[in-house]
Amino acid sequence: MPILQAKNLTKYFGGLRAVGGVSFDVEPLGVTSIIGPNGAGKTTLFNLLSGLYMPDEGQLLMGGDDVTLLEPVERLSRGMARSFQITNLFFDLTVEQNLLLASQKLESWSKLFSVTHKSQLALHRAQELLEVFQLDSKKDEQAGALSHGEQRRLEIAVTMALRPKILLLDEPTQGMSQGDTHETSQLIADLGKSVTILLIEHDVELVMDLSKQVVVMAQGEKIAQGSPQKVRSNPIVQTAYFGDAV
Ligand SMILES: Nc1ncnc2c1ncn2[C@@H]1O[C@H](COP(=O)(O)OP(=O)(O)O)[C@@H](O)[C@H]1O
Ligand SMILES: [Mg+2]
Repeated sequence: MPILQAKNLTKYFGGLRAVGGVSFDVEPLGVTSIIGPNGAGKTTLFNLLSGLYMPDEGQLLMGGDDVTLLEPVERLSRGMARSFQITNLFFDLTVEQNLLLASQKLESWSKLFSVTHKSQLALHRAQELLEVFQLDSKKDEQAGALSHGEQRRLEIAVTMALRPKILLLDEPTQGMSQGDTHETSQLIADLGKSVTILLIEHDVELVMDLSKQVVVMAQGEKIAQGSPQKVRSNPIVQTAYFGDAV
């Protein structure tokens, strides 16, 4: 059973069809990447998946359930989390405080626990995330004082706070140095062992290394889908994307 099924997703901005009739299935775990030139509709597609926008047409299923009309917070409680192309950290707060804030929702979800026990949940999760994302030594620094690469890492950690089943990452390596990009791609590969990842990424080599499935978009439409090898050798993709973008 696919964990996610997009069926004919369509979104207009006025007369512009930003996403048109896009359908694809995502099987659990691993990395599925969405690639395509600037303006292809990738971020709009993510906004449809996460519930920030309602589609004008089409449906979205999670684990077979129709979630098309659910608000983002309801999708989050069903296990779908996302990061944004623009950072959503609190720069004036410390690394640990950012993680605590993000983890707090776990407490409202566990109604059975006492108040003191509940706050321990967030503390515990924040500590776990500091370790997994190797931010322990930075926990008392302001998020705004971190390097760009560390900020993106913290951002992914924030997104993982609620233990999502599906993680949407929009250009997590944007503006990163080569070293940071390499580290981040390893982190994503590791995360993909326990979480289903949907990744928008402009670094084609990284996409080819990481992904089990690639969806190629151009001008709002899906023009190809399949394994990295299959997509790369597709003549339509060559012309529409690799031709001028690489
Ligand atoms: N909120 C919006 N209002 C109007 N047009 C938008 C909006 N968001 C995106 N667009 C347009 O939709 C198209 C797809 O944009 P986007 O999804 O951001 O593409 P990508 O992420 O692939 O670069 C572009 O032509 C863009 O200008
Ligand atoms: Mg985008």
